[in-house]
Amino acid sequence: MPKTALMCPPAFFDVREPKNPYMGQPIDRAKAQQQWEALRSALQDSGINVETIEAVSDLDDMVFAANQVFVGYHARIGNFIVPSRMHYASRHKEVRFFVDWFHQRGYKIIDLDLTGEYLEGQGDLLWHPDRSRIWAAYGFRSTRGGVEKFAVAMHKLGFPVIPLQLIDDHCYHLDTSLCPLNDDAALIYPGAFSPESLRTVRAGWKRIHELTRDEALQFMGNGIVVNGRFITPRLSQNLGHILAQESLTPVVVDTSEFEKSGGSVFCMKAFID
Ligand code: ARG
Repeated sequence: MPKTALMCPPAFFDVREPKNPYMGQPIDRAKAQQQWEALRSALQDSGINVETIEAVSDLDDMVFAANQVFVGYHARIGNFIVPSRMHYASRHKEVRFFVDWFHQRGYKIIDLDLTGEYLEGQGDLLWHPDRSRIWAAYGFRSTRGGVEKFAVAMHKLGFPVIPLQLIDDHCYHLDTSLCPLNDDAALIYPGAFSPESLRTVRAGWKRIHELTRDEALQFMGNGIVVNGRFITPRLSQNLGHILAQESLTPVVVDTSEFEKSGGSVFCMKAFID
């Protein structure tokens, strides 16, 4: 179970160029700040220590702290990160600030040559909860080639990587449609995956719980599982039943301003240990 999360305050958060189908409406930055603080409190109330990285002016998506690096731990090399190569040029600069932050704290940096490819951190790369393998999606942001290069590097550390293809543009990151609940159970939106990838996902978990497309587009698959709780932007009857079956208590945190940028709770933090 992770103990620490890294977040970036929304001081310069904005919606400028549309990078995904959710982006178009202006945001209310004061409201965004309140929602961000409520998420930080929800994590702290769940026993998580929250660290922050300073926001940088002009980097309007830096608040989505899940994307800039992939974070891992390996018995031999210790804590490590794999820096992302973000799909949109406007997000490229964010990566350097995160890499510096982790470098200062002693994380080993596994730099991949991602020329011509993209890889977007925990947006598309998710640990199986027992840390035995990594689910890795491509299609809209990360590229297949980016995932392949990542897989080679992780294989050297003994971590298998399972590639998955995303096919619904509203589910452009894996964290919108696959949410691991525990070692045996995952929450998915099936329509996000190509038929072959959906078979792979189903084969990888003892229990698969399904969200409707409507629920997925309301970011109910973008929750944070922490110490028996499930932090989510909203709760449907279906999601409530699923969480009860997996003995998770829902905690609702409104993220309306961040959803206007195509992200919710999961995207707004990286677990770093
Ligand atoms: N506006 C951001 C983008 O399009 C949202 C990122 C959401 N992050 C996530 N992990 N799903 O890049």
